[in-house]
Amino acid sequence: MSAKFISVEGGEGSGKSTLLSRLKKLFEDKKVPVVFSFEPGGTELGKEIRESLIKNRNFFSARAEALLYAAARAQHMDELIIPSLQSGKHVIVDRFVDASLAYQGVARKLGLKRVRDLNEWATNGLYPDRTYLLDLDPQIGLSRAKSRQALDRIEREALSFHQQIRNAYLSLSKMHPERYVLIDASQKPDEVFGLVQKDLLGYLSADG
Ligand code: TMP
Repeated sequence: MSAKFISVEGGEGSGKSTLLSRLKKLFEDKKVPVVFSFEPGGTELGKEIRESLIKNRNFFSARAEALLYAAARAQHMDELIIPSLQSGKHVIVDRFVDASLAYQGVARKLGLKRVRDLNEWATNGLYPDRTYLLDLDPQIGLSRAKSRQALDRIEREALSFHQQIRNAYLSLSKMHPERYVLIDASQKPDEVFGLVQKDLLGYLSADG
């Protein structure tokens, strides 16, 4: 069985963290070797970049923002993702290149091609084997996020920004049907978890 690379994507408040903590418990109980990580973050450098990108700094040019996400990703690849896959562990990440395509390529208007090219350099062209998209109306997602804590620099963007992100992810899912699994994230967390669990366990066992 080869180690698989899985990503979870979605807009703000779409329930990625809840889903991922339940998947973590599932794989721990099953004693399946899986490394969980997140972007930006997952390494010391990634965490430092995350601090500056997400906290309340006022201004980043769109290109600087895209480069910082890509830098965090390059470090994440070299330090954690590739070594884990090479040692036979599955890797499940909270966001990957598709987040840059949706947020920087589309919502920040840098263009899909430019952001894809930049990221293919950062990742040596590695894409996830499977991507779960938690799709949700951003109005619902943002109100969920707001009920938890003060919104961060990106969450505070206009609703139209978040709508563009939702549409961008939906287009990406149509462009890559071979790896995308679309999940209706307006369902209860148990239902979302149940759907992902069933698909993922089936996917991993089909290969082994
Ligand atoms: P998180 O809230 O899922 O932890 O993600 C952090 C924020 O960074 C979120 O608002 C999405 C944004 N982001 C990008 O704009 N581009 C990226 O490449 C990544 C990974 C995240």
